[in-house]
Amino acid sequence: MDASEAPWQAPAPAVPSGAADADEQFSFAKFAAHPFFKEVNAWLVAHSGIRPGAEVVDLGCGPGAVTELILQWMGIPPRGRVFAIDPSASALVQAAGRIRAAIVQFIQGTAERVAQLVPPVDTVVFCNAIHLVADKNQVVGGISRILRPGGVFSFNTTFFTGAYPGDTPRFYKLWVLRAVRWLRERGYDVARGVKATAMQWLSPEEYQALLRAHGFGEAVVEFQEKELNCQAWEDISEFSMFIQGALPGVPLEVGMEALKVGVRQAFEEMKLQAVPRVWLQVVARRA
Ligand SMILES: C[S@@+](CC[C@H](N)C(=O)[O-])C[C@H]1O[C@@H](n2cnc3c(N)ncnc32)[C@H](O)[C@@H]1O
Repeated sequence: MDASEAPWQAPAPAVPSGAADADEQFSFAKFAAHPFFKEVNAWLVAHSGIRPGAEVVDLGCGPGAVTELILQWMGIPPRGRVFAIDPSASALVQAAGRIRAAIVQFIQGTAERVAQLVPPVDTVVFCNAIHLVADKNQVVGGISRILRPGGVFSFNTTFFTGAYPGDTPRFYKLWVLRAVRWLRERGYDVARGVKATAMQWLSPEEYQALLRAHGFGEAVVEFQEKELNCQAWEDISEFSMFIQGALPGVPLEVGMEALKVGVRQAFEEMKLQAVPRVWLQVVARRA
């Protein structure tokens, strides 16, 4: 580990306060507070075999909702170590503000460099972020390298082939159409046909093949469907990476507003109360 990747701990001095404030405006925290979101993550963490005294990586920890869930399995008072890793300085500021456990070490870094950031561990939990990784082969390889034999890699995502049940693709199409119309009326030029999603979707089978290629045994795979109301979609529309994925090139402030207006119109026109969405949950053990 070189000096530029030293464990990141002190919230205040690490990020200029203005930058943190600006980033927090486009944070994931509001969406992460919805009960359905806590449920999918709580299920995954509960099936990750975490015990008091374990050494665990919370990869892509964001504002810390999953770190809190991990701590619940580490005893009272918690024992072991948690390495909470995220590239976003402002997300780490939020996480450090809500989590006071001394066994948690916050590290600014990416999944691509995980093998350089932490020592061997028992468990890696990667919630709602694997789809953001461009080179999944390299990242799963790095995770496999830091896991002790018999260690667990668990991840979930709702950006995979199979995430849209029934005729919900109609909803996403209308949402994007309405958002783009709103933007065009204000003089913004936007590429057509962009999906209201993040990037790099794989199928469950492709994920399983990737795991096998990196020395994992047969994975436990679950599909969990949740109902998202309009407020949940408006809240995810505040998250910078979602805005960039849905409306590439559009300034965040404007993109957020366009997505919120668009989703309200889509709900109204289709007379929806909620839109179902599927989470892929995967738990794999290293041979
Ligand atoms: C949708 S949030 C999920 C946060 C948290 N895991 C949860 O489920 O509540 C995605 C997080 O992944 C982080 N992220 C983006 N690219 C990443 C990468 N290459 N490696 C690790 N984390 C990444 C983002 O900064 C963000 O905090």
